[in-house]
Amino acid sequence: MKLTSTSVLRIALVSTLVAAGTGAAVLAATSANAATTLAASAAQTGRYFGTAVAAHKLSDSTYVNILNREFDMVTAENEMKMDATEPNQGQFSYGNADRIVNQARAQGKRVRGHALAWHSQQPPWMQRMEGSGLRQAMLNHVTQVATYYRGKIYAWDVVNEAFADGSSGARRDSNLQRTGNDWIEAAFRAARAADPGAKLCYNDYNTDDWSHAKTQGVYRMVQDFKSRGVPIDCVGLQSHFNSASPVPGNYQTTLQRFADLGVEVQITELDIEGSGQTQAENFRRVTQACLAVARCAGITVWGIRDSDSWRASGTPLLFDSGGNKKAAYNAVLEALNAGGTTPPTTTTTTPGGPTGCTAAASVNSWNGGFVATVKVTAGSSAISGWRVTLTLPPGTTVVGAWNAERSGDSGTVDWTNVGHNGSVAAGQSTEFGFQGSGTAEGITPSCATG
Ligand code: XIL
Repeated sequence: MKLTSTSVLRIALVSTLVAAGTGAAVLAATSANAATTLAASAAQTGRYFGTAVAAHKLSDSTYVNILNREFDMVTAENEMKMDATEPNQGQFSYGNADRIVNQARAQGKRVRGHALAWHSQQPPWMQRMEGSGLRQAMLNHVTQVATYYRGKIYAWDVVNEAFADGSSGARRDSNLQRTGNDWIEAAFRAARAADPGAKLCYNDYNTDDWSHAKTQGVYRMVQDFKSRGVPIDCVGLQSHFNSASPVPGNYQTTLQRFADLGVEVQITELDIEGSGQTQAENFRRVTQACLAVARCAGITVWGIRDSDSWRASGTPLLFDSGGNKKAAYNAVLEALNAGGTTPPTTTTTTPGGPTGCTAAASVNSWNGGFVATVKVTAGSSAISGWRVTLTLPPGTTVVGAWNAERSGDSGTVDWTNVGHNGSVAAGQSTEFGFQGSGTAEGITPSCATG
């Protein structure tokens, strides 16, 4: 691994944020202290390791044991799609999605939302729609679902698979595309308004090879969105590979080029058909590519055991149908434990006394604005009220806030708890957030009790 002075600095910063014992493992774990699960190994470089989960498998104990042990990010395989969440127009149904979200959150895992708008897996009523009625129905869907899950989603696949395969680099024809070329940015704006704390991703497949027209088409769209201030935070590469569509030699270049646009990249649906060492080496290469790109935030595999896969006959996952670790698992774990770049983080924290509280902010920025989420954590004793102080950069203004009262809109701002979130048990956390215009990079909150 090549270390620049910036990456050393970032590693030093992150080390101070995690418990002393694990901080030492941030750079590269030696075999003596190598982490032994995918999530723990990925966390050493500030990344997550996720999987797709199917609600009906949550009663399968082998499945749930592996899920709970190995993964710290969860995507609903089908349960958050448009046909599942709005089976009849205006009638929303969240039962199966909630099962997955609640299970994940109870285990301290985060959730990727998949997917708000897509040409596929639309409910029948939507498949029959066109034009302005469809545009309105799509935006209502985005708003309703993102609002329902507000505060619980790490990143939303706002739009899925909107580009055509082949050499055109153009949009895919669909009823959504026919509502007007601006349908994607309209969906992103609606998602931002509904859940300002979630990262907003564009997600697609066959966008892994940098030289492919489809990759270039998506790249130009993201570049355009960034230049015009359309809210987009991440690009998801599904990364479904097989012999017809192998891991391209320039995969890392693709990740890096997207990252260079100022968005996070996420590997969102990884599976690689094959077996044995060949498959293992492909998984290793994908993992290493993510680790080499600072803005590659994490990897999600599309299922747990081979038998859970949508392409089960290709045995494309990390566990065999009996739940045993495959060679591919070991290759991924080894690659994660070898370390890599550390994702840039804007999280900063100020320690409180043993009985006080600490506050940590994470900032999601776009051109001209941001959303900050501040986590208040009680020390070794319960607290019954808190005050967080932070100083905004000159020119930055708060335009809205939730779950806290504030003393003003600019400069040094004091934030105090509201009625329902003042009491925090020892070691537990609560969050508040605010949206602002300007920038909040590097804000350093401090916390006091009382
Ligand atoms: C797949 C699911 O895994 C299957 O269970 C379902 O029958 C079809 O969809 N791209 C995506 C995912 O974004 O939502 C798809 O998931 C796989 C391809």
